[in-house]
Amino acid sequence: MKAGYFITATDTGVGKTIVTAALLRGFIKKGFKVGAMKVIETGCLDKDGILLPSDGMFLRDMAEMSESLDLITPIQFENPVSPLVASRLENVKIEIEKIFKAFEVLKKKYEYLFIEGIGGLMVPIYEEKKRKSFYFVRDLIKDLELPVIIVTRPTLGTINHTLLTIEALRIKKISIRGFIINFSEPPKNDIAEKTNPNILKEILDIPLLGVFPYLSELTKDKIGETALAHLKIEELIEG
Ligand SMILES: Nc1ncnc2c1ncn2[C@@H]1O[C@H](COP(=O)(O)OP(=O)(O)OP(=O)(O)O)[C@@H](O)[C@H]1O
Ligand SMILES: [Mg+2]
Repeated sequence: MKAGYFITATDTGVGKTIVTAALLRGFIKKGFKVGAMKVIETGCLDKDGILLPSDGMFLRDMAEMSESLDLITPIQFENPVSPLVASRLENVKIEIEKIFKAFEVLKKKYEYLFIEGIGGLMVPIYEEKKRKSFYFVRDLIKDLELPVIIVTRPTLGTINHTLLTIEALRIKKISIRGFIINFSEPPKNDIAEKTNPNILKEILDIPLLGVFPYLSELTKDKIGETALAHLKIEELIEG
């Protein structure tokens, strides 16, 4: 692996999967061998006793990987809640080592790895009984030793959410490569949406890696060409 990036967001549903797909397609267009992970997925569809992680499946397709879904999404739950709550409801212990092992395998095979998180930074994964504390997505990022790309909304409330996310990363000394503003819905063209990109750029001291537009068609081609046109892929290429 030349580099790996952990894709987080200010909340769930902000566009981590679509932005991760855009980065994958952009890097593929530049000629790199890329891999993806969706480390933990909850809300998986149960099809005849087999859980189907839709983000993991989508990213595997976008990256054109041939690995089994267990490697791409090592931890899966059916209930659409945090991993901590899903594991309690389903009575399945979270084996976090599965993520580190899969990451080690994929690291050897791919030039760039894009790892999608779950929800935002403070989503609880499991309870550390001995220390009477919780292991959050943020702790996983720290343990994977990956720099972060933050996906944010363009809409009202994003300044607060984005700054809180950056604070939460800095307190743990996690390196931040930049942020991407994603339009997960057609533009409203209201005053917040019009002013947010510039004010975020002015306030934040991390690079804006692009504003990803709303796409009515989420095909590989469309996502790839939009990534090259709207994201600063070059800034993420090593050397
Ligand atoms: N740029 C975009 N153009 C069109 N649709 C988008 C775009 N970004 C996101 N969406 C849609 O918005 C929804 C949420 O996006 P996405 O699934 O990428 O969010 P997420 O942060 O990965 O969510 P989760 O926390 O569930 O993993 C999806 O239905 C997705 O298809
Ligand atoms: Mg997702």
